[in-house]
Amino acid sequence: MAETYRVNEVGPRDGLQSQGKILTASDRLAMISRLVDVGIRHLEAGSFVSPKAVPQMAGTAEVFADLPSRESVRYAGLIPNMKGYELATEAGAQVLNVVLSVTEAMNQKNIRMSLDQTAEVCESIVRRGSGEGVEVQAYLAVAFECPFEGRTPPAVVKRFAKQMQDAGAAKIIIADTVGAANPAQVRQVLHGVADVAPVENISCHFHDTRGLALANILAAIDFGVREFDSSIGGLGGCPFSPGATGNVATEDVVLLLESMGYETGIRALDLVPVVRDIEAMTGVALGGKSYRWLAQQWDKQNGALNHGG
Ligand code: COA
Ligand code: ZN
Repeated sequence: MAETYRVNEVGPRDGLQSQGKILTASDRLAMISRLVDVGIRHLEAGSFVSPKAVPQMAGTAEVFADLPSRESVRYAGLIPNMKGYELATEAGAQVLNVVLSVTEAMNQKNIRMSLDQTAEVCESIVRRGSGEGVEVQAYLAVAFECPFEGRTPPAVVKRFAKQMQDAGAAKIIIADTVGAANPAQVRQVLHGVADVAPVENISCHFHDTRGLALANILAAIDFGVREFDSSIGGLGGCPFSPGATGNVATEDVVLLLESMGYETGIRALDLVPVVRDIEAMTGVALGGKSYRWLAQQWDKQNGALNHGG
């Protein structure tokens, strides 16, 4: 049987949070439904953060109230603090994501807390989740490079991975928030993290700013990682990390895995009309590196269907 990989869609959160156009809760739900309809089973549906800090994510509780309910789909919500924990669990989020940026400057800019304070808050949220049967995943952001402090030492990533793992985090997610990682660095960082957490507990989040996201994913695959974040059409950027572009595109990750014979439950071609719909919704041009080719294939197949019978 083909090896199974998990593709975790983060477009509805990481993708939308940096858009100039603010989508309504019902548009966000329409986007999520399209993604679920083509087989996405893991999805970050929004964040429970201050609407003043991120107006694009205001109304996330409304989004959670109406999510398409499918037994096999898991919806996550990002939270920055204990207030977020309470809002997210009340709203019915099944998985909570905490973000520990591993540098001092990034925490100050992103959530106005020191690195030590953030680590303490994340640890207490993870511990509370463990005690209350709530799955909490810990993102280690700027794990390769910080836009304010430069290269991140792998030992720092390892230290915080250990703290989150020991506290009971459901996953340790190594995030290249600015899209500056290279495959050699991916191996180096994973090597450290794998000393403190089983590889099944490690997931990776890459942005494609420098076009190296798929190469980084391949390095992580070779290391044994089986789970990756991506965003449909490469939607995104980060309002708090200057210069970063979108996440690696979901269609690129799915096509990579599919062409290597791995199972994701998603067909790359099925993502073409979803990218088109989300382009229309957001008003931004989307599409990863493989998109133009995929769209040609889709048009050919669809043309054949339209004219063939
Ligand atoms: N959800 C919604 N509102 C929240 C909140 C949460 N999780 N946490 C705090 N707030 C509200 C407070 O109630 C307060 O509201 P008020 O002004 O109406 O009284 C306001 O936000 C400010 O709270 P304060 O504790 O003073 O925090 P702050 O102004 O220093 O902001 C954060 C800190 C963390 C709340 C804010 O920076 C934030 O939400 N950041 C999220 C950034 C983000 O999403 N980054 C991308 C992903 S990592
Ligand atoms: Zn990101």
